Amino acid sequence: MKNVLVVYYSQSGQLEEIARTIAKPLMEDTEVSVTFCPIVLEKSFPFPWKKEAFFDAFPESFLQVPSKIVAPSEEVLAKKYDLVLLAYQVWYLSPSIPVNSFLKSDFAKRLLENTSVITIIGCRNMWALAQEKMKKLLQGTGAQLVGNVALVDRHINHISVITIVKWMFSGEKKKYLGIFPKPGVSEKDILESSKFGKIILKYLKINSYSNLQTELVANDAVEIRPFLIEMDKKANKMFKIWANLIIGKTNSRPAWLKGFNVYLLVAIWVMSPIVYILHLFTYPLKFVKIRKEKAYFQGV
Ligand SMILES: Cc1cc2nc3c(=O)[nH]c(=O)nc-3n(C[C@H](O)[C@H](O)[C@H](O)COP(=O)(O)O)c2cc1C
Repeated sequence: MKNVLVVYYSQSGQLEEIARTIAKPLMEDTEVSVTFCPIVLEKSFPFPWKKEAFFDAFPESFLQVPSKIVAPSEEVLAKKYDLVLLAYQVWYLSPSIPVNSFLKSDFAKRLLENTSVITIIGCRNMWALAQEKMKKLLQGTGAQLVGNVALVDRHINHISVITIVKWMFSGEKKKYLGIFPKPGVSEKDILESSKFGKIILKYLKINSYSNLQTELVANDAVEIRPFLIEMDKKANKMFKIWANLIIGKTNSRPAWLKGFNVYLLVAIWVMSPIVYILHLFTYPLKFVKIRKEKAYFQGV
């Protein structure tokens, strides 16, 4: 019997649905036992979000400051797992506070040390550098990263910004004004993600994951958009400055967060289109570098 643990956090239920769909082929196999472990914070984040709370989560998300989590059940902690599926979302270009908090807890060390881990990302579309941070967090627990699946909103970047904001602030994953596409990962992509579970099951059974990521990528598990990587890198530099400026403030924190809000609007609606045009013009010059980067971020 193989023991598989699925660790996840989800506010809207999207990431839980993705994790359960991927885990389905494993659950249907009589030789595999699947245990689900939601991450629960002692002080939970609101959903739907209010604007102040949404921006207030920025400094601690980006600087990866952990919060206290509720201990997983004894039943979860008592078992030794052959494989862990870790489903996480990105908050401000970093693994979300709940997931970061879990990975920095003693529980994660106990559950993940010397264990193969497959990360499952469900986010808007900007996850590449968050996955680099995830690699470091996993190293800290002694886990081995053997695979990664990243499901995103495939619509144009700016459309996904509009629709996700509406979704996060209303709590409803539906077509904004009846004309915009539905926000987040599409129903089709979620439904079809069980194909990744079938691939994972095959490698779990042979207890070797050396070709897993290649097969996952061949089946569309990781789509890389070079422009988003460029934006991710640029935004990480700016977020670092803002987060370090804000984290030490107490009384003036709300005012600083308002400043960050304005910066974010300018970055998305003014700077990003300019970067996009420059990206298109310089694309032929950077072709080799982009191809190398694409292969790197598709790997583990
Ligand atoms: C505070 C906050 C910040 C976010 N930042 C990002 C981000 O930097 N990149 C991204 O692709 N998605 C971002 N998202 C979207 C999430 O990754 C995720 O897709 C969404 O919150 C739904 O996940 P759920 O399953 O927890 O409901 C953010 C969401 C929240 C709430």
